[in-house]
Formats: sequence, C-alpha cells, structure tokens
Amino acid sequence: MNDIQRRDPDSRIKILDIGCGDGSFIKNVLTAGIDADFIGFDLSINMLKMAKNSLDCSRVQLLAADGFTMPLQPEAKFDLIHIDSVLHHLVGKTRTECVYLMDLFCKQLMDRLSKNGSLLVEEVYYDSHLFPQITSCMIFYGLKLLNFLRLDVSKIVVELLPGLEVNFLHRKQIEELFEQYGTIQLVKQTPWQVPRLYRFLLLKGLGHISYTITALQQLPSQRTQAS
Ligand SMILES: C[S@@+](CC[C@H](N)C(=O)[O-])C[C@H]1O[C@@H](n2cnc3c(N)ncnc32)[C@H](O)[C@@H]1O
Repeated sequence: MNDIQRRDPDSRIKILDIGCGDGSFIKNVLTAGIDADFIGFDLSINMLKMAKNSLDCSRVQLLAADGFTMPLQPEAKFDLIHIDSVLHHLVGKTRTECVYLMDLFCKQLMDRLSKNGSLLVEEVYYDSHLFPQITSCMIFYGLKLLNFLRLDVSKIVVELLPGLEVNFLHRKQIEELFEQYGTIQLVKQTPWQVPRLYRFLLLKGLGHISYTITALQQLPSQRTQAS
C-alpha cells in the first residue's frame, strides 16, 4: 500500500474492494492513515449495512453490486483492487467451471487496474495428502449432494448451512491461476489448525494466503507487434 502511495505521492490512491463484507479491509487501510478514495461492492445487503455502520467516511462509497457486473464507468481504473475470500464463492456446476469463473472474474479486475496498479487477492487454501485437491473436491461435491437431497446438517456441523456451496483451491492451483496475469508476489500466509473432521477428509493443511498481482507492462516493441 505504501509502495503504491510512493509511486505517485501527489495523487489520491483509488481502491476498489469487491466482496467488501463488513468493511474491515477498508477500515484497516483508513486506520493506517492511507490517503485514498474507496469503493466497496458486495452482494449482501446485510454485510453492507455492517460496513456502513463502521465506515462513516466521505471517502468511502459502498454499493450492492456483483463483482461480475460492476456499476462503473468504462474508463474507471484503480491503483489497488482487493478481494478477500470471494473467489471460493464463485461456484459453477463443476470444479472446472468454478476455475473458469474465477479466471473470468480476475481477468476483468486486472483490466480495471491503473498503470502500475495491483490486484491484492486473499484466499483460503486447502492442501490435501496424496492429491492436493482431494479435500476441496469432497467438500465441493459433498455440499452439492447435501443441497440436492435437501439435507440440513447444520445441527451437526454448524458451518454447513443449507444452500452453502464453496470451492476451495490448493495453494499451487491458486498460484497457477494468478501467474497468467502478471508478476505475483506472496504477501502473507497464515496456516490454520486442521479441524479433526477434516483429517478424515485427508486434509494436510489449510489457511489464509495473500498475493499481489501486477500486470506485466508491455515493451513498446511488443505493443507495435500486437497492433
Ligand atoms: C467470506 S466473505 C469475505 C468478506 C470480506 N472480504 C472479508 O474478508 O472480511 C465473502 C463476501 O463476498 C461477497 N461476494 C461473494 N460473491 C460476490 C460477488 N460475485 N460480487 C460481490 N460480492 C460477492 C459475499 O456477499 C461476502 O460478503
């Protein structure tokens, strides 16, 4: 963040937070004293209400919107675009379709970056024994089955609310996705304790991981070739 501010100390940074939830990221940036204008989008009106309560600031605009169809001017660009724990909510019929949706989502965000802007992606990773994707595969299709059978198991496992669908990736898969867009840099990895239930699902490790992705700048010769 400080790095972005240093690149252009005379202008106010523009930050877009998609799936801003209760606004905790924006609040942290404001508390850190970063001089920026913020837009926060979220699908959930309830989360936005919480964000509005904690972010009483004229520099923050909060709107109910889908990250796929953002109500932005075509020319609107941002120095920093942030998504935390949003990608695993982009769920299709199959895991391949989920990755396709994540890719579509991120590509669209990369196009919204200003020159030298960065995408800051924070996600939850699930790495399993044997094949790294086994646990998240079981979770993905297990939830689909529960929903298909209309089974409510939330009394046994509180996190498994009816209708919940998520698709977690393993760490390497996340990196492979982001590497397509430019230079990626690991910012932070916070491992979480593996819950006992997940040990039966062959889970080796999980946690929260953050990367910045900066688009590769085309050399003038490459630009001429492309046009
Ligand atoms: C797990 S919460 C994370 C909230 C916040 N980013 C944080 O880290 O505290 C995921 C949020 O993403 C929002 N969300 C999911 N899909 C979205 C989409 N397509 N467009 C905008 N928001 C979305 C949900 O409504 C939810 O508030």
